[in-house]
Amino acid sequence: MADRYVMSIDQGTTSTRCILFDQRGRLCSVAQREHRQYFPRPGWVEHDPVEIWRNVRRVVPEAMAHIGVDAGAIAAIGIANQRETTVLWDRRTGLPLGRAIVWQDTRTAPLVDALRNRPGDEYFLDRCGLPPSTYFSAPRIRWLFDHVEGLEERARAGEVLFGTMESWLIYNLTGGIHGGLHITDPTNASRTMLVNLRTLTWDSELLDFFGVPRALLPEIRSSAESYGEARALLPGVRITAALGDQHAALFGQTCFSPGEAKCTYGTGSFLLRNTGTELVRSRNGLITTIAYKIATEPTVYALEGPMAVTGSLVQWFRDQLGLIGTAPEIETLARTVEDNGGCYIVPAFSGLFAPHWRSDARGVVVGLTSYITKGHLARAVLEATAWQTREVVDAMNADCGLPLRRLKVDGGMTSDNLLMQMLADVLDVPVVRPLVAETVSLGAAYAAGLAVEYWPDLEALRANWHRAAQWLPAMDPERREEEYESWRQAVERSFGWVR
Ligand code: G3P
Repeated sequence: MADRYVMSIDQGTTSTRCILFDQRGRLCSVAQREHRQYFPRPGWVEHDPVEIWRNVRRVVPEAMAHIGVDAGAIAAIGIANQRETTVLWDRRTGLPLGRAIVWQDTRTAPLVDALRNRPGDEYFLDRCGLPPSTYFSAPRIRWLFDHVEGLEERARAGEVLFGTMESWLIYNLTGGIHGGLHITDPTNASRTMLVNLRTLTWDSELLDFFGVPRALLPEIRSSAESYGEARALLPGVRITAALGDQHAALFGQTCFSPGEAKCTYGTGSFLLRNTGTELVRSRNGLITTIAYKIATEPTVYALEGPMAVTGSLVQWFRDQLGLIGTAPEIETLARTVEDNGGCYIVPAFSGLFAPHWRSDARGVVVGLTSYITKGHLARAVLEATAWQTREVVDAMNADCGLPLRRLKVDGGMTSDNLLMQMLADVLDVPVVRPLVAETVSLGAAYAAGLAVEYWPDLEALRANWHRAAQWLPAMDPERREEEYESWRQAVERSFGWVR
């Protein structure tokens, strides 16, 4: 066992990575490939599923070659993936029927607006825990049926398969048209708007509502169990876990107890709080999601606050405004000033996700005066992430009736110390970052390793979590409330730009 590893394949929005972890949860090898982003029209975002599968076939042997191991050294494979991104493929040929429609794509906005008017948010929240949004998969399936000639009929005849990225990859890894498995896990299924959260089954009423035939849909298995052998790539090695990437990060951060929360700060940011076996229906603009389901153990739920634009605001500042040369320079620039000078940026580039769910919102910069420098703007960029997090945490505290006690963080933006201090300040709780920052991959590896008893139990995983850094709140409470009020007013001004 000592020289064996668990392999994690993290298929994310911008790249695909393969990481090998050892029993102490240490990262032993990594290989990564980016894939192309297609923007065929304003608001449209697509990926090529064939390119992504090809990248998986490359990064897996690369990661193994880095440390000179073969399939015999891999105890199991876990998959984590970008969620909600929709792939349809042909059952007979195994080939995609067009490009994948990515979670950031807003082409379904008119359909979603109609759903929000009728039957309304409550109808969906009560069944699947999600409000109608361009973010989720079912409106995309409907859009494809409405725009691709003959597709709906073919789907009804059982000729078409749907999946998010984990389904697509497991299908291919386990043999494709030669007996490949068409499966998903509850965390990914819970992002489609088609799953009944209580029963973890496809919901007949929702399927009828969107006109989605059952034959299209993968079988829902648990998040950690032996699915099948990755015979197309690593014969003899079993795939034993699949989780949406943000759920995987919650698992990798060992947030196993109710009340524990993590936020992953990337291009978008996603705050999840474990609510245990209790399904908490949000009344404050969050979504209810499956945290994980390990084999036959009870389902663990979470509340989630997704923020669509956080790190991508820094990218915009760098690439579109050219005010910095590299992303880390934002911290240096922001430190040239004491405060934001009264300036706030609300990055509602394609509407706002939690807790507002406003597709009619667009980005605003408020409080500009001739006093404002690029340093103030840089500060406002970072603060936008901190205040968005505060709104999500407030909504969570209201839904749960218990305040958050500390926030575990991970993701690329956590290397920005100023932002981390801002977070502790505006949330008024300690913010902690673990030693292993690759929590998405680690979570998928943990779930896969549990399924083959590579790790005995959750306690063994907890023992692997070590704090690397901590930030404590140090903001004057009165100033915090004043600035929060200014942020809220700025958010109000972003509403209603798209009519
Ligand atoms: O819901 C979208 C999320 O899963 C994307 O995460 O890290 O691939 O951008 P990431």
